[in-house]
Amino acid sequence: MKAPKPLVEIVATGRWLPERVLTNADLERMVDTSDEWIRERTGIRERRIASAEIGAADMGAEAARIAMERAGVQPGEVDLIVVATATPDRLLPATACEVQARLGASNAAAFDVSAACSGFLYALAVVEGYIATGRADIALVVATEKMSAITDWTDRSTCVLFGDGAGAVVVRRSTNGRGILSHYMRSDGTLADLLWRPGGGARVPFDQVVLDERLHYVKMAGREVFKAAVRSMAEAADQALLRAGLTSGDIDLFIPHQANIRIIEATAKYANLPMEKVYVNVDRYGNMSSATLPVALDEALEEGRLKPGSNVLMVAFGAGFTWASTVLRW
Ligand code: UT7
Repeated sequence: MKAPKPLVEIVATGRWLPERVLTNADLERMVDTSDEWIRERTGIRERRIASAEIGAADMGAEAARIAMERAGVQPGEVDLIVVATATPDRLLPATACEVQARLGASNAAAFDVSAACSGFLYALAVVEGYIATGRADIALVVATEKMSAITDWTDRSTCVLFGDGAGAVVVRRSTNGRGILSHYMRSDGTLADLLWRPGGGARVPFDQVVLDERLHYVKMAGREVFKAAVRSMAEAADQALLRAGLTSGDIDLFIPHQANIRIIEATAKYANLPMEKVYVNVDRYGNMSSATLPVALDEALEEGRLKPGSNVLMVAFGAGFTWASTVLRW
């Protein structure tokens, strides 16, 4: 199959990470865990934690400002802001509207996409559709997460995994052969209760029972999620390559969702991609849900791991379950 001509491209990236670092040694003082267990089972050494007064919109707007500055885009030129988040500042209104207000993007439509760790790729696919069909010219995809706010800091099986942060990209119509070559998105809601926040929404409103039973925090069946993540990310990698008319040998950089180094290694092995071609920052940030991919993309660029014409494969998996992938020509 011939590679499709890209219609839409990412023209600039940005990231914002809280300064505060929470190390495995810090966690050893909070729950019954060890640096050794966390590093061996997850690959995580430390993660960033946002301060109490900072929310997803604050972090997302900062990442977006950096991306806009690099793209030379003024706030009034932005048509569309799509925010991917599992940790919205509020259930109402959308965090995207709060980002829009902070940026002063007075001509932009704004809404959230809820697809957990796959949110960045889902939001990118939505924005690609708007731009490819001429319904938007300049869009922002912002992925921002304050995972620390929905983490049960007494549950050692989850609290060692997550971190806070935000990434953003400016998206426009492609003019030079760069851009999005393919997308793939799937979901399986029958497995929702393997990774979820059972209470605190409209179905089980926040009350004393939710508080006492800690139902407003993330609950995860780690081993089951692990297996589904490897299976689904491997499938997503295959599908994005197939749809782009490429094989793994054509990929210069693989950026998988950063939840666990063992999931990353297993997916890379399945996709036949050597670890030298895989971007890894899970050791420094843990799992920042939707923010992991744009933060990794921004860092990879800064480190010179992407050159004009490089082919990049991105793959994600998360609550829902949702999974997604894309191939970009940089
Ligand atoms: O973003 C997408 C969603 N998230 C993921 O992709 C995460 C997927 N899951 C995982 O990454 C892994 O399943 C975990 C890292 C969460 C857990 O690793 P595991 O190798 O699957 O361990 P396990 O859950 O099977 O637990 C093994 C043991 C258990 O003890 P027993 O029952 O064998 O005595 C746990 O109680 O490790 C124990 N354990 C811990 N020990 C020390 C669980 N958490 C900890 C901990 N420190 N933090």
